[in-house]
Amino acid sequence: MPSILLYTRPGFERDCAAEAMYHAENAGLSGYVNAKPDSGWLQFCSEDASGVREFVRHFDFSLWVFARQWFEVRGHVEDLPVGDRVAPLLAALGGATVSDVWVEYPDTNEGKALSKLARGLEGHLRRSLEKSGQLRSVSPLRAHVLLISGAEAWVGTAPIENSAPWPLGYPRLRMPKAAPSRSTLKLEEAFHVLLGRRSDALPRPNQRAVDLGAAPGGWTWQLIQRGVKVIAVDNGPLAPQVMEEGRVLHLREDAFAFKPQQPVDWMVCDVVETPARVAALMERWLVRGWCKTVIFNLKLPMKRRWQEVQQILEGLEKVLEAAGLRYELRAHQLYHDREEITVWITVDPAIVGRTSAG
Ligand SMILES: C[S@@+](CC[C@H](N)C(=O)[O-])C[C@H]1O[C@@H](n2cnc3c(N)ncnc32)[C@H](O)[C@@H]1O
Repeated sequence: MPSILLYTRPGFERDCAAEAMYHAENAGLSGYVNAKPDSGWLQFCSEDASGVREFVRHFDFSLWVFARQWFEVRGHVEDLPVGDRVAPLLAALGGATVSDVWVEYPDTNEGKALSKLARGLEGHLRRSLEKSGQLRSVSPLRAHVLLISGAEAWVGTAPIENSAPWPLGYPRLRMPKAAPSRSTLKLEEAFHVLLGRRSDALPRPNQRAVDLGAAPGGWTWQLIQRGVKVIAVDNGPLAPQVMEEGRVLHLREDAFAFKPQQPVDWMVCDVVETPARVAALMERWLVRGWCKTVIFNLKLPMKRRWQEVQQILEGLEKVLEAAGLRYELRAHQLYHDREEITVWITVDPAIVGRTSAG
C-alpha cells in the first residue's frame, strides 16, 4: 500500500502519528498510521497513491513538529541476504533516478548498532546507482534506506527541497569546548533547523538580545559568538567565560517581570515553566514590540502532546493576529529537546501572509 515513512524521537511515535493524521486530513488525504512505541519511526498508509506523492511533494516539510525526516516508500525488504544486501535494496528502489542515497537507522540503541553496516551499504549503493545511471546530480529526489535490522529495510525517495537536509533528520553538532552548558547546542540547532531557509534572519553582529532564564549561559554564549550584545536575566550565576567578553549584562531579576528599557532584536527564553505561562510571556513581548524575534522552549505534557502543542500555538497565533502582526512561526522537537519543543517566531511587516505549525 502507498505509504510515507516518518522518523521521530523514540517515545514520540503517538504524537507524530496524531500530527500526521492532522496534516493528512487537512490535505484531504485519508489513511492510517502504523507505529510501534519507542521505535523511532512510523508509517502513514493510504490507498491514494497520487495523494501520497502529492503530499510529500507539496506539504511544507518545515511545518512538522514531531517528524525529523520523511520519505515516500517504494519498497520494504524483510529478508536481506547477508552476502548481498545491495541487489534487493536496488530492486526495491525500482528504476528511480536520484541525486544521492542515504542509508539510515532509527534513533534507538538497536538502530545505532546498525550505523557501521549503514555506512558500508551507503557506499556500495552509491557505486551501484552510479553504474546503473540512476545517480544524477540534477535529480530532485534523494533515496533513503531505513535499516530496521540487518535483514529488514524500508526504501524510498524524498524531495531534496522538501525534506530535512541532514542524514537521520538532524544536524550533527559538536559541543564547543568553551561553552558553559550543553544546552548551548539546543540554540545552535534551533538556528540550523528553524531558520534553515532564512539565513538572512540569523543573529548578526551588534544586534541586541535578552536571554530570559540565562544561567549558566549556554544560550547567551551562542549569541555572543555571533557578535550579539546580550542582557542575561537570571537569579543564578553565569559562567565566567560568558562575562569575559564584555558583551553581556547580567541582571538578577524575574524573567516574567522584566521589561527592556528599549526594544531589542531577539528575546530567547529557556525558563522551565508551564507552556501557557511561557506562551503568554511571548505574546507580551511580541505584541508590545519589545523584540522582533523570539526563540523559546515549550515543555510538553506526558500525554496528548500534539494536541497540547497545537492548542498553545493556535492561541498564540490568535493573539498575534488580533494585534495585526505579520509573523513567521516554526516549531519543532529538536534533537536536543527531550520533553519539549523549540519555537521560533519573527514579526516582520514585510511578510505576506504567514507560515505556522498549525
Ligand atoms: C534550563 S535553565 C537555562 C539554561 C540556559 N539556557 C543555558 O543555556 O545555560 C533555566 C534557568 O531559568 C532560570 N529561571 C527559572 N525561573 C526564572 C524566573 N522566573 N526568572 C528568571 N530566571 C528563571 C533558572 O534559574 C535556570 O537558570
